[in-house]
Amino acid sequence: MPPSKPLSELTPAEMRGYAVFQSHCAACHYANREQSLHGPGLQGMFKKPYLPSGAPANDDRVTATILHGRNMMPAFGGDLDDQQMQDLLAYLHTL
Ligand code: HEC
Repeated sequence: MPPSKPLSELTPAEMRGYAVFQSHCAACHYANREQSLHGPGLQGMFKKPYLPSGAPANDDRVTATILHGRNMMPAFGGDLDDQQMQDLLAYLHTL
């Protein structure tokens, strides 16, 4: 697995996405390892062909998971606007 992009090299959009991740996702997901916290670790999530569920690791599936939730994962559709979603996806691609 190639290493994640260091925080110091994030673009402004990726940095905003990092802030969204810290406030909305980090309580349940590690960004820097593959081990589970409450949900699966997300390190390298877009560098692998499949998400932990077996769904393809692409923007559409990840966006749907975030907007609508999945099993024990809550939905964030009402919390995140389009800009925050775009920034968050940009950050997730750096993992
Ligand atoms: C309250 C805990 C919680 C929070 C907060 C949370 N998640 Fe999750 N997440 C989970 C759990 C539990 C799963 C496993 C769901 C399953 O497949 O049963 C999961 C699964 C996932 C998956 C894998 C989906 C798949 O198809 O395998 C991704 C990607 C993900 N979360 C991203 C995020 C992002 C990004 C955020 C922030 C917007 C977030 N999660 C916030 C608990 C959480």
